[in-house]
Amino acid sequence: ATPTDTLTLPYAADFHVHLRHGDMMRMVTPTLRSGGVNVAYVMPNLVPPIKTTEEALRYKAELEAIEPRVTYLMTLYLTPELTPEEIHKAAAAGIAGVKSYPRGVTTNSDAGVESYEIYYPVFEAMEACGMVLNLHGEVPSDADKGVCVLNAEEKFLPWLRTLHERFPRLRIVLEHATTKAAVDMVKSLGDTVGCTITAHHLCLVVDDWAGKPHSFCKPVAKYPYDRQALRDVVKEGHPRFFLGSDSAPHTRNTKECAQACAGVYTTPALVPYLAALFDELNCLDKLQGFACDFGRRFYGVQAGLDEGAMTLKRGNWEVPSVYAAATENGSLEVVPFKAGQKLGWQLQ
Ligand code: NCD
Ligand code: DOR
Ligand code: ZN
Ligand code: ZN
Repeated sequence: ATPTDTLTLPYAADFHVHLRHGDMMRMVTPTLRSGGVNVAYVMPNLVPPIKTTEEALRYKAELEAIEPRVTYLMTLYLTPELTPEEIHKAAAAGIAGVKSYPRGVTTNSDAGVESYEIYYPVFEAMEACGMVLNLHGEVPSDADKGVCVLNAEEKFLPWLRTLHERFPRLRIVLEHATTKAAVDMVKSLGDTVGCTITAHHLCLVVDDWAGKPHSFCKPVAKYPYDRQALRDVVKEGHPRFFLGSDSAPHTRNTKECAQACAGVYTTPALVPYLAALFDELNCLDKLQGFACDFGRRFYGVQAGLDEGAMTLKRGNWEVPSVYAAATENGSLEVVPFKAGQKLGWQLQ
């Protein structure tokens, strides 16, 4: 059989994306649709973080003013100040979820959590109002306790099981899974537990980011057998594993330096990256489930499906070496994933 040269899909839903604020927000947000996305589940780790319903609604209005043809699903940052009352208010205002970052393990997570028990009243309220708990599933590195970036996710997984057992009706998403252990754990739990996988973690292993800041992110990409487990679960078309890009833009100068910020920027070409990879893995037929359908189903969201389909075509498109925008006091440069490389698929 001759391989197909075009592919028609609904616009994708990205259930984990960093859109930032200020100049970076203005540069990144319009690229959602060029990357094939019309639903964005927006992370709250701004400086300062989005912690209240008002802040989330104000942020949403800013994003809508930039690109109204995307549905923005907003989140709050979990901190000890978050109350069950605020959860009820947030749910009534359409805020979709709450993101928890373990302290000290990733960008702007100093205000994050170490132990979850103090949050049980908040989780109870979330369970009651149908809000989703989004877990950055890594425990903080602590060499004296044997914890480092390579096992930080695996050591977090007992928390996922504990939270699911304590709140079985609370929808929980383990974000940006990178390990076979995480895939196995999520599979073993009930239907209220989902899992996002990024485009870059389907591509990368340790060697690809060590010394290469534009592929460095948290959680770090792990061993080849971990990547294989991510690829296998996607190839299987498991409906609780879906796209969350964790696209996390940082300026070139904060990446190309002695202490590179963590984050890989995939938004402008998100669906093409995935199409090229799924093609290589011989599972293009699984792209729509992973990128468009399963996440919407888990979240109970129909948004963006009323719009016409998008068409991908086979080609030899080169990813730009940099995305740049003029700003008031100079310019902003962000280097994307696979900068300067050829991709076998592009959006028409
Ligand atoms: C900054 C921002 O918001 O613009 N970062 C952030 O939210 N983590 C700058 C940046 O990293 O792009
Ligand atoms: O690599 C990452 N970058 N991981 C995160 O969890 C946060 C993100 C960011 O905001 O830069
Ligand atoms: Zn995270
Ligand atoms: Zn993230």
